[in-house]
Amino acid sequence: MEQKIKGIIFDMDGVITDTSEYHYTAWKLLASKIDIYIDRDVNENLKGISRMASLDVILKHGGRENDFSEAEKLVLATTKNKYYVEMISRFTPDNLLDGVELLLKELKSLGIKIGIASASKSAGKLIELLGITQLIDYVVDPTTVPGKPAPDIFLKAAEGLELEPSQCIGVEDARAGIEAIKKAGMYSVGIGDKAVLTEANVVYKEPKDIKLKTLMF
Ligand code: BG6
Ligand code: MG
Repeated sequence: MEQKIKGIIFDMDGVITDTSEYHYTAWKLLASKIDIYIDRDVNENLKGISRMASLDVILKHGGRENDFSEAEKLVLATTKNKYYVEMISRFTPDNLLDGVELLLKELKSLGIKIGIASASKSAGKLIELLGITQLIDYVVDPTTVPGKPAPDIFLKAAEGLELEPSQCIGVEDARAGIEAIKKAGMYSVGIGDKAVLTEANVVYKEPKDIKLKTLMF
């Protein structure tokens, strides 16, 4: 029987590399400067969504959603991004999550196309720093599509890979990302906690736990 799955579309932060911790640290620092405290539960709602959408969630959490003008909000988001960019500036291939390099190489050898659907404007830079440029077939520019949980970023990735959504699998660590994959009509693989990623078709604790054979149906 011909293999149905021909492409895998990966989120970047928290799936390919552990940048979700750095996003969290940078937001926590920024939030503390405006007297807002965020914990890991709040952070689950920040995963996968854009920088400005994340700021809105934080301001609402702190009851300060009406305290800043759009221009001030832009300064806050830019400040967070400065903290974040500084943190990832010295990334190397050692910052790939365990098993990712092997997984990408295995997919390549099987002729499976690889796409990246990340909301982050730093995803392109990270791909370079992590040394995986040659392994990736298509990267969606997140500024051209509505953000997760809308399905557009995964649909655009499938289009870029010249595949139908039904021929692709999406891999995500964020609730918003799993929702986007499902809406795109793809099989969804969660990375993280089953109790958080309740809507995923299958959840693995870490990328190194992914069992390709069981996914390639
Ligand atoms: C997502 C992260 O991948 O990218 C979010 O999960 C982040 O935490 C978002 O806010 C946007 O990233 P950036 O780098 O453009 O601010
Ligand atoms: Mg993520």
